[in-house]
Amino acid sequence: MSNVRHDDTDTVRSNAIAFSEANAPAALLSSHSGSPSERADALEEHLIRRLDDVWIAKSILYASGDLDPSTVPSKVPPPGTRALMGDDPRLKKMSDAPTLAEFFHKRLMSKAHLLQSAKLALDSGHDEKVVLACLLHDIAVCGLIRADHGYWGEQLIAPYVSEEISWAVRTHQALRFFPDESVGYEYPESYVRWFGEDYELEPYIHEEYRQARKHRWYMTARLITLNDLYAFDPTVEVSIDIFTDIIGRHFKQPREGLGFDGSPSAHMWRTMIRPTRFL
Ligand SMILES: [Fe+2]
Ligand SMILES: [Fe+2]
Repeated sequence: MSNVRHDDTDTVRSNAIAFSEANAPAALLSSHSGSPSERADALEEHLIRRLDDVWIAKSILYASGDLDPSTVPSKVPPPGTRALMGDDPRLKKMSDAPTLAEFFHKRLMSKAHLLQSAKLALDSGHDEKVVLACLLHDIAVCGLIRADHGYWGEQLIAPYVSEEISWAVRTHQALRFFPDESVGYEYPESYVRWFGEDYELEPYIHEEYRQARKHRWYMTARLITLNDLYAFDPTVEVSIDIFTDIIGRHFKQPREGLGFDGSPSAHMWRTMIRPTRFL
């Protein structure tokens, strides 16, 4: 495979730190022996960091599930501190007019998965819109939120791509669960391991699939799932530079930068830029 390089150790180390921090609430829950209110304080403290006089509060969604959000009291910055309302100094600084490529470089985790999927579609000779759809299909998982990622991803990119591409990104979420012998797509073996043999799909996924089967863009979404299946290789990374021309032709990069162009999803890009803003 050309245009690949091995992951660097800094990335691996920072990913490990991020993983352990993300799981800290579970450790707190199991190890903290104080009263319920003391435990709630400890959990709530996990959502707050102080850097000198800057007070950084995470959204409850960061830890919801590891902790019960209804038990976490809301706090305001203590005297002598100010709430973070701008860039988080622990994150890579983004430019005033961020591009899609900049988000790949500075805000997306596991971007190798997106890049490998798109490279596979490119090498397979698929249409450029399919390549871009593969490049963006899990952008919500990688940069924003995992649950219902197809839907979040669709809304995130809709102002900047054709309706066919954003529709396909949404719909791949449901199609992943349904085989299609006509293109050689089988139910992922990994899903049996991850979700169990008895996992049952929710009704909205069945309905999404039913609607998609008769949709004129069905195959665009189906090709995402086809190129998605073989794309997991954590040891290699494809450069986004090989997609520069395709992005230029099919992604309407706003002059003001993603997050600052007033589009219906600008706030979602801004949240990725500054995920720990107090408000
Ligand atoms: Fe996905
Ligand atoms: Fe994927």
